[in-house]
Amino acid sequence: MAVSGNAKMAGVIGWPVKHSRSPQLHGYWLDKYGIDGVYVPLAIQEEDLASCLRALSKMGFVGCNVTVPHKEAVLELADDVDDVARRIGAANTLVFRDNKILATNTDGFGFYENLRQSVNGWSANGIRAVVLGAGGASRAICATLAEQGAQEVIVLNRTRTRAETMVSELNGPFRVIDWDQRNAALDGTDLLVNTTTLGMAGQRPLEIDLATLPKTAVVTDIVYTPLETSLLEAARLQGNPVVDGLGMLLYQAVPGFEAWFGIRPEVTQELREAVLAIR
Ligand code: ATR
Repeated sequence: MAVSGNAKMAGVIGWPVKHSRSPQLHGYWLDKYGIDGVYVPLAIQEEDLASCLRALSKMGFVGCNVTVPHKEAVLELADDVDDVARRIGAANTLVFRDNKILATNTDGFGFYENLRQSVNGWSANGIRAVVLGAGGASRAICATLAEQGAQEVIVLNRTRTRAETMVSELNGPFRVIDWDQRNAALDGTDLLVNTTTLGMAGQRPLEIDLATLPKTAVVTDIVYTPLETSLLEAARLQGNPVVDGLGMLLYQAVPGFEAWFGIRPEVTQELREAVLAIR
């Protein structure tokens, strides 16, 4: 759609940023809802972050998404950091309003909403979860599971100390166990989440034996290239409900789009296909 001189502008800041699917994702919604707006990739290096953020805000941008390597650094530059971003220690969404930069994190929302929309009646309340990994994505997911009432969240990470640091900074019913114990940890769990890069195209596979995992346990992977990772395939073959990681990417974009452009956009099958078709 053609834009006017009054168009609202948003984008994604990162370095590099050319692999981001956010421009097509938000572009799809801008077209769908006939909004006078644009969403562009903004390749910004670390040393230019502060000056560029201030400039974007002064230039009339309504906000932006934040990707690697800026997710933590933007907290120092924002005027207001909400509780969610503060707890996670990183922001993926900025809103520029009244000459102020507001920072939030919608990754946990994206994760939770993806499960809620994909599995009928799903809720984290009272569940026992196993989370593999302790990077930025794990932090957002663990914080959300705790906040939504999980009874226990077992965290396993190759580097155990990183998991210990993470759970000591989050408030919740966490238990850290050794990466080598991952097969045994699945006994009695209701939810298994892979937040590591294992299984991603070009990376090593995730080696895990699902034999002790209850057949009712929901299995999800934040990796979405490939869409069906070997973890999801193994879980599907033994009859577990599985949820792929593409939905997390789509749902995490919803609150930002709504804050910037004033419409709460819908995640549909057509949108999934449009984002999957991006090469
Ligand atoms: P993100 O912020 O996207 O979560 P990250 O911070 O790079 O990404 O985290 C990647 C996760 O994958 C970490 O939990 C990492 O484990 P370490 O903390 O030990 O590095 C995990 N990971 C990456 N390669 C791995 C491997 N070969 N075996 C096990 N875990 C791996």
